[in-house]
Amino acid sequence: MALELTELHDDFGAEIAGIDLANGIGDALFEEIELAFNCYSVLVLRGQTLDDDSQIEFSRRFGPLEIATPTYANTGEVTPIGRVSNVDADGNKLPADHTRVKYLTGNLMWHSDSSFKETPALASLLSAREVPPEGGDTEFVSQRAAYARLPDNLKAKIDDLVVIHDFVFSRGKISEDAVTPEHEKLVPPVEQRLVRTNPMTGEKNYFVGSHAHLIAGWPEAESRALIEDLIQRAVRPEDIYLHRWQPGDLVIWDNRCVLHRGRPFDADKYRRVLHRTTVAGAGPSLVAG
Ligand SMILES: [Fe+2]
Repeated sequence: MALELTELHDDFGAEIAGIDLANGIGDALFEEIELAFNCYSVLVLRGQTLDDDSQIEFSRRFGPLEIATPTYANTGEVTPIGRVSNVDADGNKLPADHTRVKYLTGNLMWHSDSSFKETPALASLLSAREVPPEGGDTEFVSQRAAYARLPDNLKAKIDDLVVIHDFVFSRGKISEDAVTPEHEKLVPPVEQRLVRTNPMTGEKNYFVGSHAHLIAGWPEAESRALIEDLIQRAVRPEDIYLHRWQPGDLVIWDNRCVLHRGRPFDADKYRRVLHRTTVAGAGPSLVAG
């Protein structure tokens, strides 16, 4: 069967219709979805009635799930489900000034999930369970399209560079105490290749975002100028696909080449519950590309 695809943006993104993931899908259909993932970078499937088990089962078809930052359900069980939510595990809404809700404001900066890990993520799958009637959208841009737009001399300048990604640096933009000393030890700075190549399509992209701190071997001022320039070249208003969430939406994105950010919503007024699974990458980008 050929996928029923509707493109979401000139550069990237596709909505796929006619699939019910909760009923399970065969290998041939999954291969088509995987190819679409590699080609389109962001996939939207609406009307999915996923629970955590079916979300985990489907996500694992892309590869092993990240377990390095597990969250704890109220049973104390370690789970690969990340709750992106202002509602606690018992269903109670947390106030906007709650530490956990404030911590999530880090997601409002353009980023790639887990780029601060030695093996950065391949994919994130975000399933909407409860969404506010206004606000709380998610925006996506393609660093593949942005790379393609670069002048040749800038491509040549960045092709072999290595970037230091640092969670403590990025969370320091929220507040100085956003990361505890214990947590800090678990997330030392890591090196990532700046220009990555999709192993299936051969297309190149650059790889920056809020965790990208310094260019290896460069002074701080020049590093920050280049990283900010690359981010700004990717996130012009016309580059953005904005996703307005409906309950039942599943959005899958390629963290190797996409940047995303959450948009604000009134967390004192509305509940927002999204469950995320994160598929680990093939290895450190310096090795795996
Ligand atoms: Fe994210």
